[in-house]
Amino acid sequence: TRSIIIDTDPGQDDAIAILLALASPELEVLGVCAVAGNVPLPLTSVNIRKVLELAGRTDVPAFAGADRPLLRPLVTAEYVHGKTGLDGADLPEPTMPLDPRHAADFVVETVMSRPPKSVTLCPLAPLTNIALALAKEPRLAERLAGIVLMGGGVFEGGNRTPAAEFNIYVDPEAAARVFASGADVTFIPLDCTHQALTTAARTAAIRGLGTPLSRAVAGWLDFFERFDEAKYGTDGGPLHDPLVIAYLLRPDLFSGKRVHVAVETASELTRGMTVVDWWGVVDAAPNATMLRHVDADGFFALLTERLARL
Ligand code: BDR
Ligand code: CA
Repeated sequence: TRSIIIDTDPGQDDAIAILLALASPELEVLGVCAVAGNVPLPLTSVNIRKVLELAGRTDVPAFAGADRPLLRPLVTAEYVHGKTGLDGADLPEPTMPLDPRHAADFVVETVMSRPPKSVTLCPLAPLTNIALALAKEPRLAERLAGIVLMGGGVFEGGNRTPAAEFNIYVDPEAAARVFASGADVTFIPLDCTHQALTTAARTAAIRGLGTPLSRAVAGWLDFFERFDEAKYGTDGGPLHDPLVIAYLLRPDLFSGKRVHVAVETASELTRGMTVVDWWGVVDAAPNATMLRHVDADGFFALLTERLARL
């Protein structure tokens, strides 16, 4: 089994990523950390506990981290995720407590106290908590097994601005630090996630599992996909964050390559742009693996099979 820490801002797609990880015996979820992103921290830190309780996994500790980006005011995305961040399913207010430690402290303590290269970080949100942890403990980057994150948009452009994807846009300074940290980073940008659409048939397959949990997930999908369907006329919306967990389970479903990536922090126009040297035109050593393609049918089959276990 592989030990992971999920850092997240639920978000319907974040919630489904957490469930996919909890449903997978190949993974041990050491903790789930909340950060400000899709909605403010008080909501994301409640939402992760709603999801843990939905899965019956109150043994997994939940942490709150940064309530704002390193340097900038918080930008949120209620226009996609609804007022609560988890609109689409009515879940009870959680009763499990938050662990009192700050998420960045939990990351540092956990990674440094475990064997080298045994913990993988899975950020599904702005990278503020991860940048704080890297700043607190300079040895963290090389101690990690790796970081597999959802963020960026390269050939596909952005979804928050023409240049930038939401997670990187919200805290570009944090993202720049993570990519430059020396950690073994794999990133899943919009180029890949836009291939994983929650079509009516895929959502119906999940709803058809017939469990209370599958009904909640289908409710989230119905809510989440309405944004893209209305705006772009697609059948379904892109199910971004669960691809991070799917990559850990089935790397064979993905393809990509090692690249150098830098994050724009100076320009307001292109703030948060992930500038990728796909063609190796400058003399910069690769610092990340960019996943560009996913077998979407394979991914949804995996997700549905795993959700059936919860
Ligand atoms: C990312 O932004 C959030 O809205 C989603 O949860 C995902 O992490 C996609 O750009
Ligand atoms: Ca997210």
